Amino acid sequence: MNHLPGAFFCLENNEGFLSGIQQAINNIAHKEGIYAGDNLFTYGRNLSFLEDTKLMESHAKHSQTQIEDSILWRIYVVVWGALNGMRLGEGDFVECACYKGMTARIVCDYLDFSQHPDRHYYLYDLFDHDPSLPHHAMPEHSKQLYAWVKDRFSDVPNATVTQGKVPEILEVVSPKKIAFMHLDLNNAEPEVAALDMLFDRMVPGAVLILDDYGWIGYRGQKLAEDPWFAQRGYRVLELPTGQGLIIK
Ligand SMILES: C[S@@+](CC[C@H](N)C(=O)[O-])C[C@H]1O[C@@H](n2cnc3c(N)ncnc32)[C@H](O)[C@@H]1O
Repeated sequence: MNHLPGAFFCLENNEGFLSGIQQAINNIAHKEGIYAGDNLFTYGRNLSFLEDTKLMESHAKHSQTQIEDSILWRIYVVVWGALNGMRLGEGDFVECACYKGMTARIVCDYLDFSQHPDRHYYLYDLFDHDPSLPHHAMPEHSKQLYAWVKDRFSDVPNATVTQGKVPEILEVVSPKKIAFMHLDLNNAEPEVAALDMLFDRMVPGAVLILDDYGWIGYRGQKLAEDPWFAQRGYRVLELPTGQGLIIK
């Protein structure tokens, strides 16, 4: 089963790179299990997520860009962590930060989250670019994005979208117990500050996904997080997707 080539990052020559990938594919004996996108190229893999109809339908419904198409494997990892959170029986879900809410929206569809009023999804972002902060601008940052994302979750009453700066906003609104957490802040300082505030609230067995952990462009996060976790007796597992995984 093949997945179409999607976006790759940090290329000098996009066309040259993609024709090289195509040439590599041409030389594979059994053209099965190929995934090319998000700086990953694999073949001969089961790619279980492609067989997960509910995930694929939700991804197709909510993905709006080639980059969002290409991060399917990452989304699958997040969905797995969230599914594990439901199994734990208590605790809420957190995403710092949600940007357009695409990943969290897919999680909500996948878990029929609105049918679980005992659980709450806490989503945070600045939504607009603040040049005084170290985070970089995203293409759809704007004054309108917060309202747009709130509307995107209007049929999930147990999801709260909050505009604010991490970690300060976590003092205002955040859960006491966490069954799943996704950190994707693209810079070390707020991410470590979020860990300082929230990691102790994660219940035993809860999954934490660090979206940027394995990416060289965000190496500062790994360098800050490795000693943070080592002090607490944990070691982050770097996944081939570029994410980091911790099980509390
Ligand atoms: C890569 S995007 C998140 C993508 C999202 N997790 C997803 O899967 O669709 C990173 C986001 O972090 C947000 N961000 C960076 N620093 C922040 C901070 N200190 N507080 C709140 N949001 C922050 C940015 O506004 C940006 O939208």
